[in-house]
Amino acid sequence: MQSARPINFSPGPAILPLSVLEEAARGLVALEGLGLSILEISHRSPTFEAILAEARDGLRRLLDVPDSHEILFLQGGARGQFAQIPLNFLIPGSRAAIVVTGVWGEGAFEEAQRLGDAFVLATGAESRYAVLPDLSEVSVPEGTAYVHTTSNNTVVGSQWHPMPDFGPVPHISDMSSDILSRPIDVSRYALIYAGAQKNMGPSGLTVVIIDRRFMAAGRSDIPEIWQYRAQAAKDSMLNTPPTFAIYVLGLVTRWLEERGGVAAMAQENAAKAAAVYGAIEASGGFYRPAVTMPDHRSQMNVTFRIADEALEKRFVAEAEAAGLVGLKGHRIVGGLRASLYNAMPLAGAQRLAAFMDEFARARG
Ligand SMILES: Cc1ncc(COP(=O)(O)O)c(C=O)c1O
Repeated sequence: MQSARPINFSPGPAILPLSVLEEAARGLVALEGLGLSILEISHRSPTFEAILAEARDGLRRLLDVPDSHEILFLQGGARGQFAQIPLNFLIPGSRAAIVVTGVWGEGAFEEAQRLGDAFVLATGAESRYAVLPDLSEVSVPEGTAYVHTTSNNTVVGSQWHPMPDFGPVPHISDMSSDILSRPIDVSRYALIYAGAQKNMGPSGLTVVIIDRRFMAAGRSDIPEIWQYRAQAAKDSMLNTPPTFAIYVLGLVTRWLEERGGVAAMAQENAAKAAAVYGAIEASGGFYRPAVTMPDHRSQMNVTFRIADEALEKRFVAEAEAAGLVGLKGHRIVGGLRASLYNAMPLAGAQRLAAFMDEFARARG
């Protein structure tokens, strides 16, 4: 049965390591030594407390999170963060600066505007996000509460290399689709957030890494459940947390550590992306990369087009028949997209590249 598993290029919820799925399947029935399912035990039990601690410590080691930063397990997805961030930090008299590099940045901007004063610091909208905006001449005005960026644009397929730096202005980044894919200097960020469902585990869990001093400056006159500090004070258990998702995330962190951590992943991710971008380049124009500047291209979500939309449909169908699934582009941009998250092996990316070569040769 296992050899028949399709190779999953889905953008998220996405591929997870098979060994993690198998262990989670066992834990779903009975946790080792306990005899009860992970779904059946109290979040206040010593067993779950240990599971949560393992997940958090695993993340701390993998991302080298300094003591200055707290790791929180929240709910509401990345979109929840679009709202929770301004709710906490966009105090009257200050402004939020948003770098808009795709639909998710647009969403963060809209939510911030709904709750306070926000402006677009830079945008790639004129190119329909085919390039990232040039930030070299951009300065952040005084009175800016924070700058918000999206590290990897899942829909259009762009990624910052390296991440921009805004000096002393608090930098908040949505890393939903590339967290744990490459080393980052967490100390440079006021807040990092990511929905777990792409590179970390199941949906329903949002990871927030937040500078404790920044957190302390957040509003305390909003509902407690939306205050980061209240969640931190209660060890992410102000309300019942998504226990199963946290459990699986812990298994993923263990899997990552066994494989050499984030630095090893970065190398493998570069090789995977090179295989697929290589197939695009080698096709002599049959495939066109959606992101024009090579430096701006994502190593997580490789996006490309074929001139004829009917051929794109055919590509998806034939790929599926060949056991390569999840390759349809996001509905708002169309085209094709191969998501190459950590759990995708190099051999999977190579299989796709070989399929692309064959398809281009047969139809080009
Ligand atoms: C970069 C990015 N931000 C935000 C979101 C929205 O995530 P959620 O569905 O967890 O709210 C996504 C989902 O694909 C994403 O890729």
